[in-house]
Amino acid sequence: MKDKILDKLIKEEVKRQQKTINLIPSENYASSEILEVMGSVLMNKYSEGYPGKRYYPGNKIYDQIELLAQERIRKLFNLGKNWHINVQPYSGSPANLAVYFSLIDFGESIMGMRLDAGGHLTHGHRVNFSGRAYKAIQYGVDLGDGLLNYDEIERLAEQRQPKIIVSGATAYPREIDFKKIGKIARRIGAYHVADISHIAGLVSAGEHPSPFNDCDVVTLTTHKTLRGPRAAIIICREDLADRIDRSVFPGIQGGPHNNQIAAIALMAFQNSQPDFKSYQKQVLKNAQILAETLQDKGIKLVTNGTDNHLMIIDLKSLDLSGKEAEKILEQAGITANRNSVPGDMSPQNPSGIRLGTPAITTRGMKEEEVRQIAGWISDLLLKKSKPVAVKKQVDILCNKFPLEY
Ligand SMILES: Cc1ncc(COP(=O)(O)O)c(C=O)c1O
Repeated sequence: MKDKILDKLIKEEVKRQQKTINLIPSENYASSEILEVMGSVLMNKYSEGYPGKRYYPGNKIYDQIELLAQERIRKLFNLGKNWHINVQPYSGSPANLAVYFSLIDFGESIMGMRLDAGGHLTHGHRVNFSGRAYKAIQYGVDLGDGLLNYDEIERLAEQRQPKIIVSGATAYPREIDFKKIGKIARRIGAYHVADISHIAGLVSAGEHPSPFNDCDVVTLTTHKTLRGPRAAIIICREDLADRIDRSVFPGIQGGPHNNQIAAIALMAFQNSQPDFKSYQKQVLKNAQILAETLQDKGIKLVTNGTDNHLMIIDLKSLDLSGKEAEKILEQAGITANRNSVPGDMSPQNPSGIRLGTPAITTRGMKEEEVRQIAGWISDLLLKKSKPVAVKKQVDILCNKFPLEY
């Protein structure tokens, strides 16, 4: 029986996605094949445990699918057998918590990047489990240039002796020096956990330095630059494998979501095709053009630009809050989320807007379209153009680049 109400809501959402320019850097458009696997019969099965060691019968196929996902991820990141891969985390947040849970005791300390500097809630923020169950030490960025200050991180680490140092970010527009952070962690005998959720696609395509030589554990989500299902992966040194596995199940989760795991396998297959590297290169090229054009038009960016797929507009000089700017852009059909800029005191009232290029690049947009989009953003934020007028042009552009759904 058809649920007309829900059916209508989903159709409206397809239309919204079709008719908006999505600049939220943590979002992307998964392929129809991935959506199909996510909605397949694989969802019906319980498989608590791991391949060959399940707590339910009927798992022969699921064992094969999970092993396939692990091996394809190994290939995608070019990893040897000294790395263990767990594809069961439901998403990025439980993946990070499972890692902390496996490596240290409650009350011990973790050190991660502050939210206003670009870190994630699960990197030790006080409202999050990571900041409640563990003693959180937070590092920031230099308030002058917005960059990570590795000397400062080193000083803090030596002084406070955390058991885990987390590198990685949710809103940092520059390359992260995993080597330097790894060195600091080694010096004080801490684990180095690299959360590459945002840049996983760039790392797998060789477009961002890889953390693997310099850390003990890597966590990543599969739905951002990797363009896969909403899910996450933990990759750890082989000698940590049992601890990590036990921490994911039965420590934090129950039955794995087999549809997600199969979709991870498909994502890794899709990302092994030659066009994946050119996609990642275009994501970076588009980000460069977006940053340059915005700056040429007088818009200030945190760190004055970007090395990766995202950037943050600093609105402080424009007499506009992040919330207001987000609303203006949304009225014009451009989605980009409000975000803290370094030094912001309230995450509820941030003074920045975060923009990224993974989703528009999946749609096929290139330099010309990106320049056009940058022009509209500056018209809206600087010249206070009417959003309805811009929306008409946004509609025309979106129609030229239809989604496959
Ligand atoms: C760096 C980083 N880690 C973890 C997460 C959490 O992922 P999820 O929202 O899937 O729980 C995010 C999500 O944005 C992220 O950016």
